[in-house]
Amino acid sequence: MTQIQLKNKLSTIFNILIVSDKFANSPDFLFPKNVSDYIEHELKKEDKKSVSLNYLGRYISVLIVDSKGDINSLKEKTRKHSATVTDALNALKAKEVFVYNQTKLPALSIAAAEGLGLANYQFNHHVTSKKKQVNTLKTITIVHPTLKADAINELNIIIDATSKARDLVNEPVNILNATDLANAFKNMGKNAGFNVDILNKSKIKNLKMGGLLAVNAGSVDEPTFSIMEYKPKNAKNKNPYVLVGKGVVYDTGGLSLKPTPNSMDLMKCDMAGAAAVGCAMYAIAKAKLNIHVIGLVPATDNRPGFNAFAPGDIITMMDGTTVEMLNSDAEGRMILADALHYAKRYKPELTIDLATLTGAAAAAIGSFGIVGMGTAKQKQKEKLYTSGFNVHERIAEFPFWEEYDELIKSDIADQKNLGGPYGGAITAGKFLAKYTDYPYYHLDIAGPAFVTAKDSYRGKGGTGYGVRLLFDFFKNL
Ligand code: BES
Ligand code: MN
Ligand code: ZN
Repeated sequence: MTQIQLKNKLSTIFNILIVSDKFANSPDFLFPKNVSDYIEHELKKEDKKSVSLNYLGRYISVLIVDSKGDINSLKEKTRKHSATVTDALNALKAKEVFVYNQTKLPALSIAAAEGLGLANYQFNHHVTSKKKQVNTLKTITIVHPTLKADAINELNIIIDATSKARDLVNEPVNILNATDLANAFKNMGKNAGFNVDILNKSKIKNLKMGGLLAVNAGSVDEPTFSIMEYKPKNAKNKNPYVLVGKGVVYDTGGLSLKPTPNSMDLMKCDMAGAAAVGCAMYAIAKAKLNIHVIGLVPATDNRPGFNAFAPGDIITMMDGTTVEMLNSDAEGRMILADALHYAKRYKPELTIDLATLTGAAAAAIGSFGIVGMGTAKQKQKEKLYTSGFNVHERIAEFPFWEEYDELIKSDIADQKNLGGPYGGAITAGKFLAKYTDYPYYHLDIAGPAFVTAKDSYRGKGGTGYGVRLLFDFFKNL
C-alpha cells in the first residue's frame, strides 16, 4: 500500500507533481533553469495544460489548472492527471513522489495524492510468475504549509478502504464465497473497531428470510447475513443510519441462466454493493466519525443447482408477503428485500442500499455514475448528490412515480420480481421500496462497480465505487 505523508516545506526534491495556476519555478531550487525554461516553453503551446518529463532520472510533471473554476471538476482533473503520473513513476521504478501545489486550494493537494494513491492499486497476489509487475511507488509526500495531519490520515484511510473493496470485488467466487465475505467483514471489524455478527443458514432459516433462502437454494455453499454495527459513544444521530449491500458473490442467473461470455463472465462483481458497505463501515470506524451506522449484507451465490428455485415459484419473504419469482436472474432484489425488512427494527434515520442490481441502470448511464432513487427526504438526497460530486461518484436521480408500481403487480402473489421491458432499474427499486417503512434511498451501481478496461485512478476490475461516496456523506453530516 502507498503511504501518504505530510511536510510543510519542500526540502529535498526528486520526483515531483506540481499543480499550479501558472507555472512558477519557486522556490528557485525546484529546477535548473534549462528545465523550467523547457516547461514554460511547452506550456506556451496551444491548449497545453500539462507537461511531464524525465530529467536525468527525475520525473517531473506540471499540471496547470484554473483555480477559479468549479472545485469538483478541478479535483477530478487533478486526480486523473495524477493517475498518469503514478503509471509513469512505476514504469521508472520510482519509490516516492512529492506533491507540490502552488494554487490556493489545499483540496487539490489531497486530490493529487488521492489520484496517485488510488491509481497505484494492484490486484496481483494470485500471480506467481517471476515476471509479475509490482508497483514500486510507496511514498507520496504532500508538501503544504497549512494542511493538517488529520486530513492526511483520513486520505490514507479512504485509499485503504477503497483498495479493500476492490480486492473483495476482484476475488472470484472460488476464493470468496458468502462465508468468506462475512469473515472478511469480521476481520475488518476487528481491525477498525466495529462489531460484526454473522448469521449462518440455520439462523437465516429461523428468521424466515425466504428471499435469501430462495436464491441460495441452487447453491452448495451456505448463505450468510452479516450485521455490522459501529456505535461511537458520542454519536450525533439518535436513530442509526443503515447501509445495505447486495452480496451476490456470483450471479449465474440461476435457472434463468445468463449467456456466457456476454454477461456471466464478470459476475464475480455482483457483491460490489456489499464490498462498498463493509469497506465504508471500515473507513467510518477507522476515522472515528461520530455517527451510529449499521451495515447489513445478505450474501449467497446464485446458481442453477438441483433445488434451485424455478421461474414461477412463489416465495414467502421474511415480512410474510409473497413474491412470484418469474426470473431467477432478478435475484438481487430477493435477498435485499429481506435485509430491508430486517432494517425496520432499527427505526433508521435513513437506509441506503448499494447494489449491482440491473443491467438497465448500466444501459441508461454507463459507467459514469450511479443510478439513484427512493423515498428519502429531499435534504438527505441533496446531501448524497453533493457527496457524489465531491468524490466524483455522481448520482443520477431516476423517477420514482407510482405508475411503476403497477408493473410489478402479480395476479397470484403480492408482487412479482420482474417488471416490463422498460424502466427496469426503476421497477427493481420499486420492488425494494415495498420492504421499507423509513426514509430510503437505492443506489444501483451496476454500471460503475466493475470496469473491463483501465479507467484512470479507478483502475481495471473492481473500482470500489460507493466507499468514497458513503464516507464523504457521513463525514459531512
Ligand atoms: N447482477 C445483475 C445485474 C448486473 C448487470 C450487474 C450488469 C452488473 C452488470 C442482476 O442480478 C441481473 O441479472 N439483473 C437482471 C434483472 C432482470 C432479469 C429483471 C438484468 O438487469 O438483466
Ligand atoms: Mn441476476
Ligand atoms: Zn445479480
